[in-house]
Amino acid sequence: MNRKIIIFTIIVMTIALIGLMGIQIYWIKNASAVKEASFQRTVTEVLAKVVNKIEKLEKRKASETNPYEGMLNFNRHLLYERFITEPLLDSLILLELNIRGIDTRFEFGIYNPERDLFLLEKDPGLRKSLIEKGSAARLFVSDIYTSPEYLLLYFPHEKQFLLTELWGMLLISIILIIVIVYSFTYTITTIFHQKKLSEMKNDFINNMTHEFKTPISTISLACEALSDRDIVRSPEFTENYINIILEENKRLATMAEKILQTAVIEKGQLKMKRERIDLHEVITDVIKNIRIQVEIKDGVIRKQCKAANPVLIGDKVHLTNLVYNLLDNANKYSPRKPVITVRTENISNGILLTIEDHGIGISKEEQKKIFDKLYRVPTGNIQDVRGFGLGLSYVKAIVEEHYGRISLESEINKGTTFKVFLPFTE
Ligand SMILES: Nc1ncnc2c1ncn2[C@@H]1O[C@H](COP(=O)(O)OP(=O)(O)OP(=O)(O)O)[C@@H](O)[C@H]1O
Ligand SMILES: [Mg+2]
Repeated sequence: MNRKIIIFTIIVMTIALIGLMGIQIYWIKNASAVKEASFQRTVTEVLAKVVNKIEKLEKRKASETNPYEGMLNFNRHLLYERFITEPLLDSLILLELNIRGIDTRFEFGIYNPERDLFLLEKDPGLRKSLIEKGSAARLFVSDIYTSPEYLLLYFPHEKQFLLTELWGMLLISIILIIVIVYSFTYTITTIFHQKKLSEMKNDFINNMTHEFKTPISTISLACEALSDRDIVRSPEFTENYINIILEENKRLATMAEKILQTAVIEKGQLKMKRERIDLHEVITDVIKNIRIQVEIKDGVIRKQCKAANPVLIGDKVHLTNLVYNLLDNANKYSPRKPVITVRTENISNGILLTIEDHGIGISKEEQKKIFDKLYRVPTGNIQDVRGFGLGLSYVKAIVEEHYGRISLESEINKGTTFKVFLPFTE
């Protein structure tokens, strides 16, 4: 997929997601406003009911005390002191609230604003909140002789109570949003990963075609020369060309083997022999093979094999390939006069193999990726070194098969040191 299309899709999806979240927040806010309004309605209803009951009680008490006085003006203080006590009011309100399913702490009081006086109250500490935030209903509306009194009702935990009512909805919304955001980021990272992989595969195919093309054309040229009847053929001439064909053929076989080997690792079908191997012998063999390539570039390979015990249990072919790959890299990535040092020493029940070069080095960022299959450091135009990006992933797999560890230290333009620890496993 085109990079621009991917970025465009990400932007559109992000906007859609933010929009969706916005709508969600809007709906939740709306729902909470509706809840608040309905709560307020219920509270007004409760107040009306309680006021009604108080008035009925007052009438009854007044007529009981003094029928004449009751009709005109009953002594209100007497009423609050004797009959409408705080526990009675508390239970009246509680009953009405319970009927309507409101189960949260409440405070109340009877207040006369003209005289700024509380005739009755539950908690004197909450007077201010009661006046400022409480709901009010007037008592004794028909009583025109005395200054108005109000029944105040206040819920200190109103917000929390309403929130718990919305809690389920909020929780589901949050979970859904998390699921969507997670799937979205997962999809995006997968797309980028796949894109990277497909680019790497393309590079690999390009590289492979180039690598195979050179020996193939050399072989075909050599064959042409051999079959050309006009050329006078001496035995040396023929031998020379046959040698070229054999060499190139070997190169082709090695490359094919490398690709096949990677496929085998991929399938998890790598089989290791377990035989006694002298690592120093392996190193000597590999150096013998690679020396010419290094010397062509005026380079040297130094061998400092100090391990007193170089014998371990492992697979000779794979360990040879391992050393070869590391030495091949050290040579390939040293553009001028490679100076390569191979060291061994015995540490903590095993052998530490160190391969050091003074080549182009690898940046910290790239160091994390070079063991990935098909990964090659993009060297731009500076280097024209061919490779499949398979060597180090193979090396890592082999080290792990031998229960070992591999690490590296590297600095750009200073050089690289690969350290391979192989334990004795007996
Ligand atoms: N000694 C080194 N110095 C600098 N860069 C290195 C060195 N060894 C490896 N690299 C970097 O790590 C990358 C991966 O190495 P790896 O051996 O896996 O692949 P390759 O050498 O490109 O191809 P091949 O499959 O032929 O070995 C290389 O492309 C190179 O950029
Ligand atoms: Mg390599």
